[in-house]
Amino acid sequence: MTKNIQIKNTIKSFNKIIKIEGDKSISIRWALLASQASGKSISENLLKSEDVISTLTCLKKLGVKVKFFRNKCEIIGVGVNGFKYKKDMILNLGNSGTLGRLITGLLIHSKEKIKLVGDKSLSKRDFLRVTKPLKKFGANFKTKSGKLPIIIDGTNKPKPVKYFENKGSAQIKSSIMLAALNTKGQTTIKAKKSRNHSELLFKHLNLPIEIKKKRNFDIIKINGVKKIKSLNYKIPSDISSSAFFIVLTALSINSKLKIVNVNINPSRDGVIKILKMMGVKIYFSNLRNYKGEKIADIHVESTKSLKAINCPSNLNSSAIDEFLIIFLIAAKAKGVSYFKDLSELNHKESPRLKWGSKILNLMGIKTITTSNSIKIFGNPSLRVKKQIIIKDYLKDHRVFMTSVIAALTFGGNWVIQDKDSIKTSFPNFLKILNKLRN
Ligand code: S3P
Repeated sequence: MTKNIQIKNTIKSFNKIIKIEGDKSISIRWALLASQASGKSISENLLKSEDVISTLTCLKKLGVKVKFFRNKCEIIGVGVNGFKYKKDMILNLGNSGTLGRLITGLLIHSKEKIKLVGDKSLSKRDFLRVTKPLKKFGANFKTKSGKLPIIIDGTNKPKPVKYFENKGSAQIKSSIMLAALNTKGQTTIKAKKSRNHSELLFKHLNLPIEIKKKRNFDIIKINGVKKIKSLNYKIPSDISSSAFFIVLTALSINSKLKIVNVNINPSRDGVIKILKMMGVKIYFSNLRNYKGEKIADIHVESTKSLKAINCPSNLNSSAIDEFLIIFLIAAKAKGVSYFKDLSELNHKESPRLKWGSKILNLMGIKTITTSNSIKIFGNPSLRVKKQIIIKDYLKDHRVFMTSVIAALTFGGNWVIQDKDSIKTSFPNFLKILNKLRN
């Protein structure tokens, strides 16, 4: 049984330096690409969360050797199309949409039928978005309305495809990119802008990738390869996890925080841009580049006067995992904030537009929510005084962490269920929080 957390007091002022765990998107991508490489790849600071452990467990089942030593993880790749398939193989994806969607791209060449399963939350999520393009390569998928469980029936004669990815989903784009790697000929993806870690890793590995950047989308061309070289990588800290501490600091009294070595890749930094537009005091230092990724230390300070925002939808994809926590800033801002074109939020670990407005309503904030937008009527003098219970939220880690930050900054007596939900993306969340509370 997972435990609850109870929070009755707001956080006192703090002035600290913290380090956050490794980026989840890069950790999963590194492991998948290292599995296809020839030879030994080593990563430092790989995120040791359930989503990444599920990735490594699936890879081990497919014949990949994985070893941890100190802060490092070593993978001995099986080479392109080198997975060892067994009869009646079942791969458990746990809670991870990223693992599920990306690994399916590598499995289209499976020589045996493979069954993909996941937890309750993942089993509600859409996989048609990847099976549709992957079918064009020649693989077959058996699924009830595009949900898990899925049975993959691979092809030994994959054909390159042309596909228009119009949701702005990096998971769909990356799934097709991984399928293209092992497909002779040229695959072309016209992809609405989304996080570009896969492209940067492909480039760093000198894989045959060509990217033409247009205003709203990229044209990505990939040629299949026979061999991938190994990949050593120092994984930077996750901006999505950092966002909880950035907002905590902004909403706290007389506080300052420095978060070191965070990945501020422009396809992920929407949260910083949005919070700055809302008046939050944030700046970067120690800016540098690491294998194409932009890294910096982030500084943030308590901010008294916050402004409402009509959030430009061109920032949506670069802040897609941060909206729940951004909504807390809107709750404290002067005026009505408006976030639109966000139907993709309904495809996350829980329907997040619904959960965002639910948390705010319980705090006494008025919202108007549609299937793809939310209006938040901010209240700069909001103090919560009642009891709030957060439960039945499909253990969405970001609902849990957003609720904790709300409790510590707006007050009230909160009981938040399923503390273990943080293990999927940010196992040290409560430990780091306690460091700020001491
Ligand atoms: C991810 C992409 C995003 C994001 C998810 C991680 C990735 O999903 O929400 O947490 O690593 O590619 P979509 O690509 O479906 O938007």
